[in-house]
Amino acid sequence: MSVTARAPSSTANLGPGFDVFGLALDAFYDTVTLSRTKSGIKIISDSSIPLSPSKNTAGLVVQYMKKKFSVKSGVEIKIKKGVPAGYGMGSSAASAAATAVAFDKMFNLRLSPNQLVECAGVGERASAGSIHYDNVSASVLGGFVIVRTKPLDVIKIVPPSDLMLCVAVPKLKTPPKKTEVSRGVIPKQINLSDSVTNLSNAAAIVAGFLKKDSRLIGTSIQDIIVEPARQHLIPGFSTVKKNALRAGALGVTISGAGPSVIAFATKKHDMQKIAKAMSAGFSGTGCDVIICRPSGGAKIV
Ligand code: HSE
Repeated sequence: MSVTARAPSSTANLGPGFDVFGLALDAFYDTVTLSRTKSGIKIISDSSIPLSPSKNTAGLVVQYMKKKFSVKSGVEIKIKKGVPAGYGMGSSAASAAATAVAFDKMFNLRLSPNQLVECAGVGERASAGSIHYDNVSASVLGGFVIVRTKPLDVIKIVPPSDLMLCVAVPKLKTPPKKTEVSRGVIPKQINLSDSVTNLSNAAAIVAGFLKKDSRLIGTSIQDIIVEPARQHLIPGFSTVKKNALRAGALGVTISGAGPSVIAFATKKHDMQKIAKAMSAGFSGTGCDVIICRPSGGAKIV
């Protein structure tokens, strides 16, 4: 018996919502097929990803779920990567989300959304060095998500239908432990006034999603804490941001831990113009630009 699930790419943080906000994007998808075997865990993939279960996102999720739910049979995991790895597009999260959803179906576990997110989050350890649930929550549930962790509780809001995004994925070589590196440059302590500024923008983003107001979302994508600390890791970031804003984007920030840069706009904007402007900003390294929209969550296909 085999089960296949597909999960979307995602952008984390959305500026001021570090480790709390996620948004599923229809830019890329990962597909994971699980098959029952007699014993053990075997990983198959054409992509250049680790095939050892304890080093692979999907492998970690299966290891964890097998133990947690006392599943005795073996599992073969076939991974088709669509989400580019190491660019801040939630690549490991997409594999983890598809794996958790496929495992749930295959062994008829009927897990709740929070349980699925908890299982998928285990996979993040493989790439990020720590568990954070923003990307996996978006990949599992789809739409816009708010993550609370003590205890884990994910709130999903369906995004406005006119929200458009443009992601510029620079052709940079990223270090293997990129997320760990980019988490290492964030200040351990922050000013109360900076925290207040970020909190007000984060609150406005949530209000924007609830009111289906893409303009409010876009203009609130402003982060004065994490973005300034990380931007030096992305050559060309400030030009890309300036160019996108000049071309009409409402807000621009680093996608997750980077190095991709994401611009927020609406259907009324000239998305091709924003895409070209971002591309020109990354002229040093070159980049791929993807115009995309929010996506639904992981599903069995
Ligand atoms: N919130 C995480 C970070 C996302 O910014 O480090 C990493 O994918």
